[in-house]
Formats: sequence, structure tokens, C-alpha cells
Amino acid sequence: MTIAADRATTPLDVPSAILKRRSIKSFKPDPIAPELLRQLVELTVAAPSSFNTQSWRITLVQDEAQKQALCAASWNQPQITQAPVTFVFAADPHAPEGDLTPIIEQGLASGAWNEGTANYFRTAIPGFQQQLGDKRREYGIKDAMIAATHTALAAESLGLSTCYMNGWLEDQVKAVIGAPDEWAIALLLPVGYAAEPRLNPGRLPFSANVFVNRVGNSYDH
Ligand SMILES: Cc1cc2nc3c(=O)[nH]c(=O)nc-3n(C[C@H](O)[C@H](O)[C@H](O)COP(=O)(O)O)c2cc1C
Repeated sequence: MTIAADRATTPLDVPSAILKRRSIKSFKPDPIAPELLRQLVELTVAAPSSFNTQSWRITLVQDEAQKQALCAASWNQPQITQAPVTFVFAADPHAPEGDLTPIIEQGLASGAWNEGTANYFRTAIPGFQQQLGDKRREYGIKDAMIAATHTALAAESLGLSTCYMNGWLEDQVKAVIGAPDEWAIALLLPVGYAAEPRLNPGRLPFSANVFVNRVGNSYDH
């Protein structure tokens, strides 16, 4: 993949993108060049997923009427109408619906998996998913959130800004994008060019939430 950063001469390295990223609440109306958006989608689906099942379902909301409806489903948070695109990250808890063939064939064709691995996955994936029961939704959401994190950091690296958003009504978001009932909505992520600088609101000291070996043993470095 060729890197086509827009307005950023050189893509930021990962540590710089992590540190520079802020949740942006106000976007310029400037569109994202189609090749840049495509690159962002490619970097998004480069994310890992459980057994490589790729159960995320990603909808790019760009149409003005769709953006208005999505904004209404999100407590009228204006980022969604302002940003040129909002990625809606959903998970299909039933994926891959019993047909593992495309995933297994890709693994074999790439040389990443041999027949032994493929055979193991043919049994292990359905077995693992079956024992998950109600947790399949939660597992799908994990994959979708990891993909969303790839999007946010890749966007930052390529000169764009984002806002992770959990403030929305799931049924309404599903209705807007036409998602089946059984899907889970994981996150909304408006992407565009920031219309404001934002300060880092800060992070708690490690003593609040980072431990060594057992909870309560502080990490004092
Ligand atoms: C899962 C998640 C959900 C969030 N939901 C919203 C949201 O609905 N609206 C919003 O304006 N910000 C939302 N935020 C942004 C947080 O408020 C923000 O990440 C936090 O204040 C830290 O700021 P920073 O992202 O600039 O570091 C969300 C962040 C995360 C990770």
C-alpha cells in the first residue's frame, strides 16, 4: 500500500500519533480525498481479530441526510454532522455464520497457515464460538473496537482527526444504517479535519490503575 497522507507531508509515527490524538468535537466541512479515505479503510481492516474472523461491520456515513439522522441518534452531538464521514463500527456476533471457507482459503493462500492450522481452525472456531454463548456479542465488540483504534491512530498519523463516541442509542443507530437487529453497535467515529485545537485532559497517575503481578501492587517507574 502506498501511503497517501493529506496535509501531513510525512505520516506521524505511532508514538507521535498516540500522543497527538485528541477527541475533536468540532470539524471543518472539508472533504477527505477518496484515496486517503480508502487508505484509512485499508489500515482499519488490517486490525487483528479473534481467529481472524473479521466480524466487524463498518459503515461509512457520508450522505448529509444520513449524517443528520445519525446525529439525532447520538444526542445531537454536532461532530457527526460536521465531519465529512463517520465510521460506524458494528459487530455481527454470528459471523462467520458457519462458512469459514473464505477465511481459511486466505490463510492458506497467503502461506500464513498450513493445512494443519486450517484443520485446527475448522474445528476450533465453531467450538470456541459455541461455548461463548451470550458472550459472542461482547467478543465481536472487542474486535470492532480494536479496528476502531486502528482507524483513529491511522487517521491521526495521516493528518486527520477523530472523536471516539459511545453517546448514542443503539436501536436508533441500527435503524439509520439499516443494521440487522442481532448486530451490536460498538462505536461511532467521526473523521475529518479539526476546526479546533484541544488540550489533553490528562491521565491519572499509574498508581490509580497500573499494577504489577497482582492488583494493588503499584507500578512505580
Ligand atoms: C469509548 C469512548 C466513548 C466516548 N464517547 C464520547 C462521546 O459520545 N462524545 C464525545 O464528545 N466524546 C466521547 N469520548 C471522548 C472522551 O471524552 C475522551 O476520549 C476523553 O475525555 C479523553 O480525551 P482525549 O480523547 O482527547 O484524550 C469517548 C471516548 C471513548 C474512548
